[in-house]
Amino acid sequence: MKRGALKARARDISVVLVVLVCATVGIWTWDSTPTAFLPPQRHFLKLDTEEKVERISTAQNTETKDSYSSATPFVNKEQSKEDHTDNKDTEEEKEKQVEEVSVSETNQGKTPPVEEKNLEQVEQEVIVSEPKHQKTPPTTSEESKLKKVKQEVSVGEAEAKTTHIEKTTQDQEKKTLATDEAKKDIKACNYAKGKWVVDKHRPLYSGSRCKQWLASMWACRLMKRKDFAFERLRWQPKDCSMEGFEGSKFLRRMQDKTLAFVGDSLGRQQFQSMMCMITGGKKRLHVLNVGREFGFRTPRGRARPGGWAYRFTQTNTTVLYHWSSTLCDIEPINISNPLTEHAMHLDRPPAFLRNYLHKINVLVMNTGHHWNRGKLNGNRWVMHVNGAPNANRKLAALGDAKNFTIHSTVSWVSSQLLNHPGLKAFYRSLSPRHFVGGEWNTGGSCDNTTPMSIGKEVLQEESSDYSAGHAVKGTGVKLLDVTALSRVRDEGHISRFSISAKRGVQDCLHWCLPGVPDTWNEILFAMI
Ligand SMILES: *[C@@H]1O[C@H](CO)[C@@H](O)[C@H](O)[C@H]1NC(C)=O
Ligand SMILES: *[C@@H]1O[C@H](CO)[C@@H](O)[C@H](O)[C@H]1NC(C)=O
Ligand SMILES: *[C@@H]1O[C@H](CO)[C@@H](O)[C@H](O)[C@H]1NC(C)=O
Repeated sequence: MKRGALKARARDISVVLVVLVCATVGIWTWDSTPTAFLPPQRHFLKLDTEEKVERISTAQNTETKDSYSSATPFVNKEQSKEDHTDNKDTEEEKEKQVEEVSVSETNQGKTPPVEEKNLEQVEQEVIVSEPKHQKTPPTTSEESKLKKVKQEVSVGEAEAKTTHIEKTTQDQEKKTLATDEAKKDIKACNYAKGKWVVDKHRPLYSGSRCKQWLASMWACRLMKRKDFAFERLRWQPKDCSMEGFEGSKFLRRMQDKTLAFVGDSLGRQQFQSMMCMITGGKKRLHVLNVGREFGFRTPRGRARPGGWAYRFTQTNTTVLYHWSSTLCDIEPINISNPLTEHAMHLDRPPAFLRNYLHKINVLVMNTGHHWNRGKLNGNRWVMHVNGAPNANRKLAALGDAKNFTIHSTVSWVSSQLLNHPGLKAFYRSLSPRHFVGGEWNTGGSCDNTTPMSIGKEVLQEESSDYSAGHAVKGTGVKLLDVTALSRVRDEGHISRFSISAKRGVQDCLHWCLPGVPDTWNEILFAMI
C-alpha cells in the first residue's frame, strides 16, 4: 500500500511539474513575441507627429487669426455707410481697376502662410521615414525613436525654410532667428538698383477715387490725360526681393507709431501717395485729423497750415507731413513787421523737428528744388549761419548752401538718434525734373508718354544725388535713394495736363499720382 501511494504521489507531482514548466514556457514565449502584441510603432510615430503638427498649426492659427482680426475691421468698414454714400464714381473702367486692385489685395491677404506648405512637407517626410523606423532593431528604446522623429521633423522644417540656422531644440527660438536673419538680408539690399517692369496689378490705388487724400492738381486721372501706361510700372530691385506693400501690414508694423514726412512739395506728394496706399484709395478706415497735436494751424493770412497729421485709430498709427521746403530753420527777423525778411538758418534744423522729433518713429526728410534765387528773393529769405547773416562766400552759392544745410540737418538728426532709440530716420534723395527745351517758366516741356523709353534699369552702386549720399555717410540716417530710378520715368510727370497750369506751362517736376512716389513709399516700407 505504502508503495502504491508513493507512486501515485510522484505521478501527481510530476504532472504538476510538467504543467508548471509548460505554463512557464508558454508565458515566456508569449512575453517574448514583440510584434504581435506591442502597439505598432506606427501608432507612436503618428501620435508624436500629430502632436507636433498640432503644435505648429496652433502657432499658425494664432498668426492667421492675428492677421485676420486686424484685417476684419477693414472689411467691416468697407461695408459701412460712409463708403456707400461716397461711391458715385461713374467711370466704369476705373471702377474695374479698383476692383482688380482690391481683389489682388484680398488674395494676398488670404494666401496661406508659407509655413503651411512647409508643414505639408514635414508631414510627408515623416510618413516616408516611417518604414525605416520600423526596421530599426528592437533594442532601440521608444524614447530614442521619438527623439529621432522629432529631429527629422525639425530638419524638415529647417530645410523647408531654407535658412541656415543651426538646429536648436526650441522651435520658438528658431523662428525668431529666422525672421531676424531674413530682415537683415532685406536691409542689406540696395533697393536703388533694379529695373522697372510692367505689372498688371498696378496701380496700388485709383487716382480718381482717392479724393480724400490726393490733391486734384496731382490726380492725372482727373485731367484730360489719356495714357495711363505709367501707372502700371513696378520697381523690381536687382539683387533682392522687395516685400510687397499692403496697407494692413503697414499699419500693423506702425502700431502706436508716427511716420513723418518733412520737406517740400515732393515730400507732400510722397505723403499723399502714402495715405492713398494705406487706404487703397478707399474711405474704409477710421481716420482722425490730429494736426493740432503737432502744432498745425493755419496762421492768420495764410492759405495753408504748416502741415497735416492723420491718425488711423484702428492701430493708433499717425502719418504726417510738415512743410519745410529748405529743411532748415526759418524765422522772421522782425516779428511785428508783416513784410519782414526771414532769417534762413542754414545750420539749424527746422523748428518742427526740434519740437516734435520725440513723437516721431519714422522720419523721411527731403529738400531740393526750392534752392533758387527766385524762391529766396520772393520769400525774403536771408541766409544766416551761426545766428548772423552769412558772410562766408563759399556758402553764398545756392548749391553750396543747400549742400551745407543737408549736411547740417542730417548730422543733427543723426546726433539725436541716441536720445530717440526708436527713431528711424531717412533722407530722401532728389526727385529729378524733366524739363526739355526750357524751364518751367520758359516753355520747358516733357511730352513723352511712353514708359521706359529713356531706360528702365539702374545698375550703379552710388546715388545719383551726390550731396545726399555724402551727407548720410557715416551717420545713422539712411538714404532713401530714389534719384536714378525716378530719372528714367520722364513720362510720369503731370506734363501739360495740369489742371491749374496756364497754357504752355508744363509741370515736369511733380509726378502724376498714382505714380513714381508710390515706389518711393514701397522702398521705404521695405526699409522700416
Ligand atoms: C498711441 O500711441 C502713442 C505713442 O505713439 C501712445 O503714447 C498712446 O498711448 C497710444 N494710444 C493708445 C490709445 O493706445
Ligand atoms: C519792427 O517792425 C515794426 C513795424 O514795422 C517797426 O515799428 C519796428 O521798428 C521794427 N523793429 C526793428 C527792431 O526793426
Ligand atoms: C557738402 O558739404 C560737406 C559738409 O559741409 C562737404 O564736406 C562737402 O565737400 C560738400 N560737397 C560739395 C559738393 O560741396
